Amino acid sequence: MKKTVVFRIDPLNPDPDKIRVAADYILKGGLVAFPTETVYGLGADAFNPRAIIELFEAKKRPLDNPPIVHVSKVEDLDKLVKNVPSKAKKLMEHFWPGPLTLIFKHSRRVPDVTVAGLDTIAIRMPRHKVALALLAETDRPIAAPSANAAGRPSPTSAAHVLSDLNGKVDVVLDAGSTTIGVESTVLDLTVSPPQILRPGGIPYESLREFLKKVELNPVAVSDKPLSLEKVRSPGLKYRHYAPTAEMVVVEGEHEAVTRRVNELIRFYSRKGKKVGVLGTQENLEYYAADSVKCLGSNRNPSSAAKNLFGLLREFDSEKIDLIIAEGIPLEDLGLAVMNRLRKASGYNIVKAC
Ligand code: TXA
Ligand code: MG
Repeated sequence: MKKTVVFRIDPLNPDPDKIRVAADYILKGGLVAFPTETVYGLGADAFNPRAIIELFEAKKRPLDNPPIVHVSKVEDLDKLVKNVPSKAKKLMEHFWPGPLTLIFKHSRRVPDVTVAGLDTIAIRMPRHKVALALLAETDRPIAAPSANAAGRPSPTSAAHVLSDLNGKVDVVLDAGSTTIGVESTVLDLTVSPPQILRPGGIPYESLREFLKKVELNPVAVSDKPLSLEKVRSPGLKYRHYAPTAEMVVVEGEHEAVTRRVNELIRFYSRKGKKVGVLGTQENLEYYAADSVKCLGSNRNPSSAAKNLFGLLREFDSEKIDLIIAEGIPLEDLGLAVMNRLRKASGYNIVKAC
């Protein structure tokens, strides 16, 4: 067990002394949880294999699922990748710092364990002053998966990090809630056309507009579990983002959805289950369950993205047995939200009609 130290830190003007202490832990092979604009990350020195193994152990993450490596300046890529294609340069100029992770062929200097034995590496530059200050102070790339225990919803606050990893991490930099709430978009540039492996903070529509040609990996948009041959990103094959409660997602037209959600509430309540509803603002008034929570407006996927993971954790702390979640449109950040909801439910999806 480690003694986890929590530093409250100003998200806009991080205290250099606290950043220095956290950076020293990274340089000595320790683990530091820090905020990004998407979710909190669990950071370790990307060039220290022992620290990376400890990071996997802390999360109980399967060793075949590599973390994203974070950088604070484009020059850091020289140490990490074989070459930077011109398409990548343009994307980095436009979207970095920000919630876009790019997949490159990695250089020989990168330890095997950091990339889980793959010949590719996932890299991003986060848009958060605390993350950037930590990266600049260590002056090296930091590998950082989301700072949750494997399989759990990603952490959007320091309290979420502590509830999963207290005693397993040296420092938590607590800068309050993250702004985007779902993880970065993972874009594979080693294939042509580029392919989105995980929808996230940069919407598909923005990448399509910028690149003209970009594909969505079938797993990213699937409403059913897909066979393993189709899985190109290691993380896509694991059950993820899951609350302890069972979950069902109800998708379809407004009226059919509210009708079906109410049928499910009655059915499970009669069986003695404690039922929670994760609904859109427009429909909340139609539901009477043990716990009813607002994901956000149907017309505002950004609010749904920001609220999603925290609300799933809240249902767990209320000891809800079953969460019934309404689907939202697959547009903008809605695609990332639905990808997380469907996976969290284990693809337990009801099409209401
Ligand atoms: O917003 C984010 O991306 C957050 C913050 C902390 O930056 N990080 C994050 O990391 O979500 P993680 O490790 O939880 O998710 C990384 C995803 C996984 O699905 C993993 O399989 C995929 O990126 N990935 C990592 N390396 C890859 C590679 N070489 N090829 C394909 N997918 C890769
Ligand atoms: Mg994760």
